[in-house]
Amino acid sequence: LREHEEFTKVKNIATIELGRYEIETWYFSPFPPEYNDCVKLYFCEFCLNFMKRKEQLQRHMKKCDLKHPPGDEIYRNGTLSMFEVDGKKNKVYGQNLCYLAKLFLDHKTLYYDVDLFLFYILCECDDRGCHMVGYFSKEKHSEESYNLACILTLPPYQRKGYGKFLIAFSYELSKKEGKVGTPERPLSDLGMLSYRGYWTRVLLEILKKHKGNISIKELSDMTAIRAEDILNTLQNLDLIQYRKGQHAICADPKVLDRHLKAAGRGGLDVDVTKLIWTPYK
Ligand code: ACO
Ligand code: ZN
Repeated sequence: LREHEEFTKVKNIATIELGRYEIETWYFSPFPPEYNDCVKLYFCEFCLNFMKRKEQLQRHMKKCDLKHPPGDEIYRNGTLSMFEVDGKKNKVYGQNLCYLAKLFLDHKTLYYDVDLFLFYILCECDDRGCHMVGYFSKEKHSEESYNLACILTLPPYQRKGYGKFLIAFSYELSKKEGKVGTPERPLSDLGMLSYRGYWTRVLLEILKKHKGNISIKELSDMTAIRAEDILNTLQNLDLIQYRKGQHAICADPKVLDRHLKAAGRGGLDVDVTKLIWTPYK
């Protein structure tokens, strides 16, 4: 039986408590063996330590003095803040976050080597503290020019534009680095939908404003979106023609407007003037 369970990775933890939410989990996550018999886990919403019993969490909350993720606040706009956590400086936090995130991420391998990653934690803040709504992780050095490894919006906060905000934020960091970036593959269905939506909106808005011809390379320089992702997105929108052995963007204003309407709402914007950040060295 053991072996079978190992093999099929039966979902163990069915629900978690996190801040004021009780959340049903989606997938298996490899918590340490002493949690194997648990169907519910209680998380401290600030340090992300997890416990088997409600009383343990209540005792913990009395002595835990964190009111926001550990690390530096690199962005604040109204009640929305972003914290950067270095996995090497905050190893336990990084590992706790990975255990938590895997409950909602299917085909992602869990990186125990959190040292190599930075974690960007998006929070809604009030007088009780900064409450995590989602996060993304990013390798400190990526050979494949990935600018994002894993992205998650916690289920109670999904479909409100936070995902697109996180994606936009990852590209703002790439712009500051002077690099193009792309998310680590594979993308989940929801990940693909969110990226497609983001790429589509960003590109359509530029094409709409821009007068005259523009190349994929120029679009890539402006947005930090990898050329291949741009080409794919525009091909999907049927905005690419192949002429004389070259790809050309044909941006008929009427077609652009139709696509823009279909692309839906833009969501929460990243105000770059409120981002205080220098690339990792
Ligand atoms: N059904 C249909 N479309 C959806 C859904 C859904 N359930 N969720 C998101 N979308 C699409 C929509 O087009 C939406 O735009 P719209 O609301 O304007 O129509 C767009 O994706 C983005 O919506 P957001 O509200 O900005 O995104 P959200 O905060 O819900 O987060 C995310 C998206 C992060 C992918 C979230 O669904 C999630 O955490 N999923 C579980 C983890 C996951 O799959 N992560 C990606 C793995 S790939 C990787 O990590 C590299
Ligand atoms: Zn705590």
